[in-house]
Amino acid sequence: MHIAVIGSGGREAALALRLRAEGNTTAQFAAPTGDLASFCGELQALCIELAVIGPEAPLAAGLADALRSVGVATVGPGQGAAQLEASKSWAKGFMARHGVATAPWRAMAVHQAELEAPTCPLPVVVKRDGLCGGKGVSVCRTPAELVAALQQAHDRDGPHALVVLEHLLVGRELSLHALVSDGQCVLLPAAMDHKRLFDQDLGPNTGGMGAVAPLPWCTPQLLADIESEVIAPTLRGLQAENIGYRGVLYFGLMLTRHGPRLLEYNVRFGDPECQVLLPLIATNLANLLMAVARGELRDQPIAVQPGFAAAVVLAAPGYPHAPQLGTIIDIPSIQDLSLAGMQATAAGWQTCAGRVATAVGQGPSLDLALKQAYCRAEPLAAQGLLLRRDIGAKAKPARVAVLASGRGSNLAALIAASSHGILQGLAQIELALFDRGAPGQSVARAAGIATHQLDSTGISPEQWAQCALPLLHQYGIEVVVLAGFARILASTLIAAYPARILNIHPADPVHYVGLHGYRWAFAQQLPATTITVHLVDAGLDSGPILAQEGVDLRGAQSLAQVEARGLQVEHRLYPQTLRNFLLEH
Ligand code: AMP
Ligand code: GLY
Repeated sequence: MHIAVIGSGGREAALALRLRAEGNTTAQFAAPTGDLASFCGELQALCIELAVIGPEAPLAAGLADALRSVGVATVGPGQGAAQLEASKSWAKGFMARHGVATAPWRAMAVHQAELEAPTCPLPVVVKRDGLCGGKGVSVCRTPAELVAALQQAHDRDGPHALVVLEHLLVGRELSLHALVSDGQCVLLPAAMDHKRLFDQDLGPNTGGMGAVAPLPWCTPQLLADIESEVIAPTLRGLQAENIGYRGVLYFGLMLTRHGPRLLEYNVRFGDPECQVLLPLIATNLANLLMAVARGELRDQPIAVQPGFAAAVVLAAPGYPHAPQLGTIIDIPSIQDLSLAGMQATAAGWQTCAGRVATAVGQGPSLDLALKQAYCRAEPLAAQGLLLRRDIGAKAKPARVAVLASGRGSNLAALIAASSHGILQGLAQIELALFDRGAPGQSVARAAGIATHQLDSTGISPEQWAQCALPLLHQYGIEVVVLAGFARILASTLIAAYPARILNIHPADPVHYVGLHGYRWAFAQQLPATTITVHLVDAGLDSGPILAQEGVDLRGAQSLAQVEARGLQVEHRLYPQTLRNFLLEH
């Protein structure tokens, strides 16, 4: 097939590379900025059979319509549908009309927003209406940040331009890509982008510093929720409004404690998501894209490669604000990279754009895929190109240790939730640590979890911590969960996991702290008690509360009955609270 790939970034380089590897001839074009008709004429003269449009700007300018009108099969929506990305207010209106789950919002003129700013509840997310190359969104937590964001919108777009003001959502971001062809839809594996420049999501926003796919925590249950709350209403909306769509539709989602919410649509492949999705598509890509362009997706089954892919973006120093260009880079093996901001010169490969290259790795596990991607990125990083070192960290399950002293019933609930319940892919229990011989040990062993007993009798909490800390480090533990742990934790241990230790307490700490909460409730003949999940700090049951739930104790005849009612709530509340904690931290 003779295919035109339009656009000149890493995404388009990856598309062209793959299509060529399948035996097609490809020609890559920079996106036209002016005369669409003459560009279309050029493609026609070259007998292009299929055009694949990478970036959003030419789609918003109507390039797909222009190509279709001269008979070129095209992957990419027309100008009308491109509004889903090109106008935030239009997209939010579309979501509202069709019941797509999203953050509450209002759209208004910039000058109106400036009037309302002093009384606007914070935090708030300000979104400039038009295409801003990924720089149109500001999260405002202070009045000064809100004023600055509106000032920027005012200066760049004018007082009458629209802005969207939207609730800040907290959770984990994921990108879902769908190949859409007039109501037919095929989902690609869930991916995760990394928008900030520096590790731990610090620094300025960029075009994306890396990606991984698929995501271990994007379970079939979550996909079913996204399908019913976001994707299906979107496709129904497109049909109801008679908007034809033949292209890639990108759902930028936030998984919140209340479920998935749509942050944005993009009308094209994400960059660098595309670079990790292509290796996972086992089906012939040219045939697949041709089916999208012709409205024949239904007849084109898609096979997904098992395993994982990871991409690490290499950027020029100074990126994104003032990238230093013109540097000669020695590239040891060009096959392993998808080059974007590089040009061949007599002196060798020279950087010519901020986003220089993407190194992609693939493997049976996320760790192996990442290892390969970093291995390929390393020679370029050694020559001064920037990269993030923590790509994929948020995609992997958090490594959890459970500290217990007793029966291990909460331990069992946490194990069940992480192996096939609501913690699947989010938490991995790596270690169970007991301070005495206890029945809970067999619960952990039966689940194949490393189990250690560190006796606490006759030693101080500090001495116990000195034995526990090396184990926690050996297992790479990130979060500690106390499940019926009957000892005080030493301050050294708490300091090693600041705001990363959770405890469950069978009372409201306002009323009762310490051990034997159920015995206290029973002795007092209380009609109810309150189960509390809290972070552990240096005090006794005094850390910040994460969740509370009441338990009805009326009519309970024995301590055993009180405990049974409480534990039923604990076993649901603890995994749920750990899930919310992991999603939001
Ligand atoms: P966009 O420019 O539309 O691609 O949005 C850029 C980024 O802004 C998203 O990927 C999110 O990280 C963030 N964002 C957008 N809307 C919200 C929101 N309502 N709450 C929190 N973050 C948001
Ligand atoms: N990776 C996000 C985007 O392409 O917009």
